[in-house]
Amino acid sequence: MKRVFSGVQPSGDIHIGNYLGAMRQFVALQDDYECFFCVVDLHALTVPQDPVELRKNTIELAALYMAIGLDPKKVTLFVQSHVSAHAELAWLLQCITYFGELSRMTQFKEKSKGKETVSVGLFTYPDLMAADILLYKTHYVPVGEDQKQHLELTRDIAQRFNNRFGETFVIPEPMILKLGARIMSLTDPTKKMSKSDADPNNRINLLDDPDTIYRKIMKAVTDSETEIRLDWEKKPGVSNLLTIYSLFTGMEIEEVVNKFKGQGYGALKKELAEVVIDRLSDIQKNYKDISEEEVLKVLREGAEKAEAVAVETLREVKEKMGLILFH
Ligand code: AMP
Ligand code: TRP
Repeated sequence: MKRVFSGVQPSGDIHIGNYLGAMRQFVALQDDYECFFCVVDLHALTVPQDPVELRKNTIELAALYMAIGLDPKKVTLFVQSHVSAHAELAWLLQCITYFGELSRMTQFKEKSKGKETVSVGLFTYPDLMAADILLYKTHYVPVGEDQKQHLELTRDIAQRFNNRFGETFVIPEPMILKLGARIMSLTDPTKKMSKSDADPNNRINLLDDPDTIYRKIMKAVTDSETEIRLDWEKKPGVSNLLTIYSLFTGMEIEEVVNKFKGQGYGALKKELAEVVIDRLSDIQKNYKDISEEEVLKVLREGAEKAEAVAVETLREVKEKMGLILFH
């Protein structure tokens, strides 16, 4: 069975961009692939985190993985820091990655822009991500559009390693959805919806209550026209709302446009709010039924399963690079 790996950072509230762009794919893949889904807590540490919040967010994200429909009997759910091979392989990969390559990463440029100090970890972040993926000899990586460049670098590093030290890693392929891979901010639809945006109205979180969802959608920025149509250049706000509507209802975008033809933005927003509230209520109901104890049990078992695979790859890599192992 081919392998799938993906990760989400426990660095804040999980929003519908994460869900529609990446996490809903995970659910669809669990029956056909051997899947590893990770809470990448070491990645979250690349920017300052409050320790109490980080712990809470880690458990919450693991519970959300389960609430959206991932079955721990079918997939391996685990926390990155529980498998130390991730940090170890990341170091080895850093030693075959070039400074220039990391300097070109747009996520690094964006996240470091205007900051007085930036951690070295934020710079070498893509090597940790490459380690996550390559340790499991992953074939497919379901992610949102913003991770494409990191995936390309991962492929380059894997190829380089294989060329220098002999065939070891599988060259992974990204799985990026045609629709939803880039859900935009509700307050500035020219930017992507993001956990780290200072304005919480930019995003709808999976655990937002109905009133909050309604308020955020009704306030969403659109444009000064009145016509409802898909036009990402001239009408990014409306196009984003139409996309979210389409993804949550399963209707084609064209159908959605026809449905709202001749109506005002208010009508679209109102119906969209109802749809989002309804769809998220299922996830929220599941979430409420999951205890912290249950999550910790799943994560402990997940760590063991992941570890068993990861240590094998790490040994192989070390041996090929000339590090001495005791057998
Ligand atoms: P992160 O929040 O950076 O941990 O992202 C977790 C996953 O969600 C990654 O696969 C991202 O590519 C995806 N993602 C994050 N933001 C968005 C967005 N606005 N639209 C679509 N996918 C997203
Ligand atoms: N860098 C990804 C993000 O910010 C999260 C991530 C870490 C990841 N390791 C991964 C995604 C491995 C896919 C595979 O969204």
